Amino acid sequence: METERLRLRQFRIDDAELLVGLDSDPEVMRYLTGQPTPREELEDVVLPGILKVYAEHPGLGTFAAEDRDGFVGWFGLQPTDEPTAVDVGYRLLRRAWGKGYATEGTKALIEHAFTELGMERVVADTMAVNHRSRDVMRRAGLRFVRVYHEHFEDPLPGTEFGEVEYAIDRGTWEATQHG
Ligand SMILES: CC(C)(COP(=O)(O)OP(=O)(O)OC[C@H]1O[C@@H](n2cnc3c(N)ncnc32)[C@H](O)[C@@H]1OP(=O)(O)O)[C@@H](O)C(=O)NCCC(=O)NCCS
Repeated sequence: METERLRLRQFRIDDAELLVGLDSDPEVMRYLTGQPTPREELEDVVLPGILKVYAEHPGLGTFAAEDRDGFVGWFGLQPTDEPTAVDVGYRLLRRAWGKGYATEGTKALIEHAFTELGMERVVADTMAVNHRSRDVMRRAGLRFVRVYHEHFEDPLPGTEFGEVEYAIDRGTWEATQHG
């Protein structure tokens, strides 16, 4: 899939190094786990899990994003408990922040979900305090739905403010596509 500035492609088994580079930045991981993801976990669990989703859910999964200089991060369109709803997410290298890439990729995946995949709803979640991520959701057309609280054994700073859910349904998306 291509957007104005990005190419999205499936990850391959030899792409672990890209994930290691991305997840090694504590600032990138701040609202996710708060720490770099160990290489073994990325190689043995995360990457095989990504490849498994391609096989089990055609059209869905986690996609490597590249600009003309190479890898910038990933975008994900994941299955949910609801067969006609998908969950959108993103994680970019810090040097790729501040360029509008996350909004551009998220809009493209939302369009893909409604047009190619026949979905009825796209949802997204993040920590309430992850304002950069919430801004992406809003700019991509997703609307705030609710705050909810989850229990974590070792909560990240800001967990007390909860998680937020955003979503857009097909009708609302179609109504914004004119002109
Ligand atoms: C969440 C994340 C992807 C947001 O990245 P981002 O760069 O802030 O978001 P966008 O790509 O939409 O870029 C928007 C910024 O680019 C600027 N920009 C520059 N050129 C632009 C262009 N051509 N088009 C649009 N925006 C542009 C905007 O003004 C805005 O700047 P601001 O942050 O100063 O307001 C990034 O912070 C990240 O990877 N975080 C770590 C992972 C994470 O938390 N993921 C979400 C967990 S659920």
